[in-house]
Amino acid sequence: MSIMCWTHRSGGAEDGTVPEMLGRKRRPMRIGVLSGSIASDSINTALLGALGHIIGERAEIVPIAISTLPLYGRDADTGHPEVAVAYKELVRGLDGLIIATPEYNRALPAALKNALEWGSRPWGENVFAGLPVGIVGASPGTIGTALAQQQLRAGLAFLDAPTLAQPEVYLRWRDDMLDSAGRIADAGTREFLSAWVERFFAHVTVHARAAVLA
Ligand SMILES: Cc1cc2nc3c(=O)[nH]c(=O)nc-3n(C[C@H](O)[C@H](O)[C@H](O)COP(=O)(O)O)c2cc1C
Repeated sequence: MSIMCWTHRSGGAEDGTVPEMLGRKRRPMRIGVLSGSIASDSINTALLGALGHIIGERAEIVPIAISTLPLYGRDADTGHPEVAVAYKELVRGLDGLIIATPEYNRALPAALKNALEWGSRPWGENVFAGLPVGIVGASPGTIGTALAQQQLRAGLAFLDAPTLAQPEVYLRWRDDMLDSAGRIADAGTREFLSAWVERFFAHVTVHARAAVLA
């Protein structure tokens, strides 16, 4: 028999390490990066790349792909396809998750909503429960995905994922946002995002999930 116990406020350290199972040694945090866009030239995927540069060696970055997930339907709850099982397994192994969402028609993009559905079902097997999440988003428009992010926050609240509240990242994207290496070109924006990354790691530490006792 195994007992699964979700502990909050324990385990993680802001140096980006967490205790290995049963606290014997520390390992780097596993931070998932999930783009809500499946476009090959996505600015939100590019934003995640730039955040990866800022995070550097501080954590293991785990890309979470959602483009191969089929459209979720309840019939799948009796037997998830391989791709969904693998996706859920990947999310289950994370210490924290950063989601970059585009805004489509003043709402959450369908591909991202679909990924939430897969992660949340069947009932009782919600992989987002207790997972600390940071939300960012980029758009060429003036409100920088604010409406999509609000919807995402609401969904994640229902799924019991603690989301970083402040600072919010509503990035108005410009063509010159990145340098040729994919880093944020503007010093002010880079500083702002670096401060966000600090807050995100503190958030992951405070809400560190998962001591699994076998
Ligand atoms: C179907 C569709 C709807 C869109 N609706 C919005 C919107 O409501 N708000 C917004 O700021 N941008 C909107 N845009 C523009 C997107 O912000 C822009 O295409 C952006 O590049 C999408 O992010 P991505 O490159 O990561 O896919 C829309 C784009 C598409 C294709």
